[in-house]
Amino acid sequence: MARKRLLTGLQPSGALHIGNYFGALKPFVDTYGEYESTLMVADYHALTTLKDPLQLQRNILDIVKDYIAVGVNPERATIFQQSHVQAHTELTWIFNCLVSRSFLELGHAYKDKEARGLDANVGLFDYPVLMAADILLYDTDVVPVGTDQKQHIEYAREIAGKFNTAYGETFMPPKEQILKEVGAVPGTDGKKMSKSYGNTIPLFGTHDEIAKAVMGIVTDSKGESPEFVYAIHSFFKSRDELRKIYLDNKGKYKTLKEILINDIEAVVAPMREKRASITDADVKNILKDGGERARDIAETKMRDVRQKIGVTL
Ligand code: ADP
Ligand code: TRP
Repeated sequence: MARKRLLTGLQPSGALHIGNYFGALKPFVDTYGEYESTLMVADYHALTTLKDPLQLQRNILDIVKDYIAVGVNPERATIFQQSHVQAHTELTWIFNCLVSRSFLELGHAYKDKEARGLDANVGLFDYPVLMAADILLYDTDVVPVGTDQKQHIEYAREIAGKFNTAYGETFMPPKEQILKEVGAVPGTDGKKMSKSYGNTIPLFGTHDEIAKAVMGIVTDSKGESPEFVYAIHSFFKSRDELRKIYLDNKGKYKTLKEILINDIEAVVAPMREKRASITDADVKNILKDGGERARDIAETKMRDVRQKIGVTL
């Protein structure tokens, strides 16, 4: 029996932190081998918010390096850039002609951005439709995403239904696969680690950058155990191991932070080394190969779609 198809998209939006690692990268690396897996760099999605061309180029190269460095084998997964397969934008237009404005106005991501006064361009409004095209083009069975993306998968299912009703069975409704709740990794201030809060520990930072972030973890002088240090530490060591360490070093916050730095380093250093060995040229080759593979599948699907909608004479 053919293996199930998995596809996920990555926004190339800058340096990753250890919250991203435990919440998204590691769960992906742990499961992608069970499927026929595709990783898509969602560069046209990023364009809805990122307007700096050099930064976008850099981010695309970086995110591919990041995923390979944490353990994705480009021979076991197709890795490609969304903009390299024109069927994504073509199918988006076809879907646009099937969905109503009020349907898209229900989108959380758009509503949130608009409420925060951010530039709500048409691309942002149409974001779920492009994402539906990403997923549906490849007859995707499962889409691993964080809970914040659940609504987007519902959109993809509904759009598949709308097309099938209008033109006959063509698209398969996908299922989301909500990444195992690891719980949010807290940042250096105890709030959820997030690049928008400036409380991150960089995943691929140098030893000094990691040490600086850890030394900056907020501690209070009330208890004997620094709560936020422990909370981050618990992602790197078991409860039992930590109990002994925190008992032996009661009140010694600096020592505990130094132990945490070492434990982070033990996980990060091999990945950092691997990442440094991947060149921009390697990434371009991987994306070229992946693009060719993705284009073959997408084009076959589009031939059927064009025929069904009546533009093939
Ligand atoms: P950020 O909040 O830094 O902008 P993103 O929204 O880009 O992070 O998240 C990318 C992925 O990483 C998502 O799948 C998200 O669920 C996961 N992630 C982000 N921050 C954390 C965190 N602190 N703990 C666990 N997972 C996280
Ligand atoms: N919107 C997703 C995010 O921000 C990225 C994405 C784009 C995606 N296309 C996709 C995820 C297709 C899964 C499938 O995380």
